[in-house]
Amino acid sequence: MKKVILVTGGAGYIGSHVVKELERKGYQPLVYDNLSTGHRWAMKRDELIEGDLGDKAHLQKILHKEKPVAVMHFAARSIVSESVERPELYFRNNVINTFNLLEAMLASGVQYFIFSSSAAVYGNPQQVPIPEDHPLDPVNPYGEGKVVVERALPWYEEAHDLRHISLRYFNAAGADPEGELGEDHNPETHLIPRVLEVAAMKRPLIEIYGTDYDTPDGTCIRDYIHVTDLVQAHILAMEALLNGHPSRVYNLGNQRGFSVREVIEVARGVTGHPIPTKESPRRPGDPPVLIASSERIKKELGWKPHHDDLRTIIEKAWRWILTEKKDKGPLC
Ligand SMILES: NC(=O)c1ccc[n+]([C@@H]2O[C@H](COP(=O)([O-])OP(=O)(O)OC[C@H]3O[C@@H](n4cnc5c(N)ncnc54)[C@H](O)[C@@H]3O)[C@@H](O)[C@H]2O)c1
Repeated sequence: MKKVILVTGGAGYIGSHVVKELERKGYQPLVYDNLSTGHRWAMKRDELIEGDLGDKAHLQKILHKEKPVAVMHFAARSIVSESVERPELYFRNNVINTFNLLEAMLASGVQYFIFSSSAAVYGNPQQVPIPEDHPLDPVNPYGEGKVVVERALPWYEEAHDLRHISLRYFNAAGADPEGELGEDHNPETHLIPRVLEVAAMKRPLIEIYGTDYDTPDGTCIRDYIHVTDLVQAHILAMEALLNGHPSRVYNLGNQRGFSVREVIEVARGVTGHPIPTKESPRRPGDPPVLIASSERIKKELGWKPHHDDLRTIIEKAWRWILTEKKDKGPLC
């Protein structure tokens, strides 16, 4: 019997890549998704259960019936600027709905939980690369919501023995090397796909928000991690938990930072397009530099990123942007 893994938000960008790998590894992923930002085309017909995390009774019924051994929780809203304007949406979906899920897990005896956290928990870092024990000081409701969940988890463990690993991703990017899946947010707020959309003639230019930061070229620096490296970290984390590894928090990044201008320059090289830019003022709440220390997960779980070079990440993302897969309906 295959082990069932419930993947909330599995029709979204990162979750769909994890689902594909779970299947390849012989697990039976079941996706629980309301398709608010996820896509039917990213799903096989039999793996999607359409449902909302706000519907606790439905969630509980599914968990009771399917008896997953673990839950991977990707479902969330994740647009930082929107979280500043409409914090209520973020606390409801990312916090209250996560607690619904945890309660449904407790009621069904599901004991293992992998949580999609974020570098946003750190706010403006006091040191880079940022280690996991850096103070948590989010500067927006999106990051605050992730902190609330992370801080609640050890209490659930103490009371109910719920084992958990929180993975704090830095900037996820790139696409499935086989070209079946990729990033497709609407609106797209992430730099790499936005830059590539200019090269694909889907937007006229790329805005650079802030050119007066205290960085070598004045633009923000971020740590980009390829989505398939994130996928491997999830599998390692889940299998570690199932094998008795203690609950833990891990950063996931490449420990290398690239500025906005560097990303644009590499994208020009990959696409052969001039990619026009427009310099705009800083956005509130954007820290100048975010770079992960990922030493802990490398040391404890043996995680090893395979696509740590920006050009490869951008090449994979570009190939995805050029594919017409998105219009072809569900994977079969
Ligand atoms: N993409 C990144 O760079 C990044 C960085 C750090 C953290 N994260 C976190 O990773 C997770 C996945 O991010 P993503 O980029 O794949 O996002 P995404 O928007 O592509 O996927 C989220 C999925 O969750 C589903 N969903 C949302 N609310 C739901 C609800 N109430 N009930 C059921 N399904 C619901 C959506 O339909 C979608 O399929 C999120 O928790 C996000 O905060 C992402």
